[in-house]
Amino acid sequence: MHARQKQLAIGTAWLLAAGLASPAFAQPPEPTDLIDQQHCMFCHTIDAPFLAPSFRQIADRYREKPNASEMLEQKLRLGGKAHWGDMPMPLPADRGGPLSPEDAHTLIDWVLTQ
Ligand code: HEC
Repeated sequence: MHARQKQLAIGTAWLLAAGLASPAFAQPPEPTDLIDQQHCMFCHTIDAPFLAPSFRQIADRYREKPNASEMLEQKLRLGGKAHWGDMPMPLPADRGGPLSPEDAHTLIDWVLTQ
């Protein structure tokens, strides 16, 4: 490789690395109002399993799975069978009120980046 080409390659790699490391791209902001309204933190924490799996465990389990977010959004709104133990998550009505598809999407996007 010529020196000039090499310099270009290094420059590109550095830009890519900087882009990936930047939280502005990698992580959506925490949807605090929704989390409060739906009492997510009543049962979940970010990193310690409590009454429910931690959001980090959930993110680790589903991050690489195709279509996982659609499945989780559905489940958050309509319920479904338990994936972690015997206790299913309560429905939105029992958590603080109805949850729109957009809000479910926002929440799952955020959970999966923890
Ligand atoms: C009353 C307790 C409780 C509340 C409130 C709660 N969860 Fe859960 N959540 C659970 C339990 C228990 C599980 C494990 C269910 C299972 O085994 O699939 C769970 C599982 C999950 C999962 C993984 C589902 C799966 O199929 O693997 C996600 C994602 C999740 N919760 C997100 C949320 C979000 C976002 C909120 C707030 C909108 C929330 N939870 C509020 C108890 C709760």
